[in-house]
Amino acid sequence: MGKLEGKVAIVTGAGSGMGRAISILFANEGAKVVLAEFNESSMNETLEEILSENNTATAIKVDVSNEADVEAMIKKALDEFGRVDILANVAGVSDGMTSIENYSNELFQRVMAVNVNGPFYASRAAVKVFKEQETGGTIINVSSIAGFLGARGGTAYTMSKHALIGLTKNIAAFYGRNNGKIRANAIAPGSILTSMTPNDTSQLDKLGMEAFSDLGPFNRGVPEDIATSALFLASDDSKFINGEVLTVDSAWTVR
Ligand SMILES: NC(=O)c1ccc[n+]([C@@H]2O[C@H](COP(=O)([O-])OP(=O)(O)OC[C@H]3O[C@@H](n4cnc5c(N)ncnc54)[C@H](O)[C@@H]3O)[C@@H](O)[C@H]2O)c1
Repeated sequence: MGKLEGKVAIVTGAGSGMGRAISILFANEGAKVVLAEFNESSMNETLEEILSENNTATAIKVDVSNEADVEAMIKKALDEFGRVDILANVAGVSDGMTSIENYSNELFQRVMAVNVNGPFYASRAAVKVFKEQETGGTIINVSSIAGFLGARGGTAYTMSKHALIGLTKNIAAFYGRNNGKIRANAIAPGSILTSMTPNDTSQLDKLGMEAFSDLGPFNRGVPEDIATSALFLASDDSKFINGEVLTVDSAWTVR
């Protein structure tokens, strides 16, 4: 029996990288998965892969920065599968390591809208559902080591990933203490090979790249390294873990 048998999971950013790997692993572990993604064609590829394994999923085109889209995502889970047990906020955008002097208002607003507003809208809606369910529910926010370091992203990326850790801890503090049935945890990945991490770094902000070099060489992970961590946090194996940040970076930031 899978570790998520009978559970309903929503995964944002399900078309690519970590979101795809998490969606596929959750479905393999028995969850019914709602794939939420901006890019319809990549979303449909994930959907086909899950269905071809005779697992269960549905998909909805969502811009997580749009509150109405996020509400529709939660409604889809309830309409099709009757409940929401797991929300994985994975969708995110990078900012090219942009330093503050080079930051436009438009870039700032977009990065914050996707990386912060999206998880805020989704978590708010999910918590309301969790409160109505006897078994509660769990949120997994994909932050970053930029969520606790100064230099693994540009200005708003760093701000946004710090904010996600705050969101995680606040939900855990407000809702976790009564019976532990509502949980929120974050994952802080190091460098993971996905479409977000460019091989050609020449277009990245120079100051950002200089600041990036301070921790020296690092290992690169694959999306499945994050998916297995997300499975642990989604399953009852972690039922006494609430408000934590799981760093998954192969010792890059250890001191
Ligand atoms: N790759 C890394 O090294 C790394 C490290 C730390 C944290 N992260 C974080 O991991 C998460 C997943 O990133 P990834 O590396 O898998 O990147 P990715 O680019 O492969 O996947 C991100 C997915 O999110 C989707 N997306 C973007 N904006 C969206 C929106 N507004 N609404 C809905 N979907 C949207 C994209 O279409 C894409 O499918 C992100 O939050 C990212 O910040 C990545």
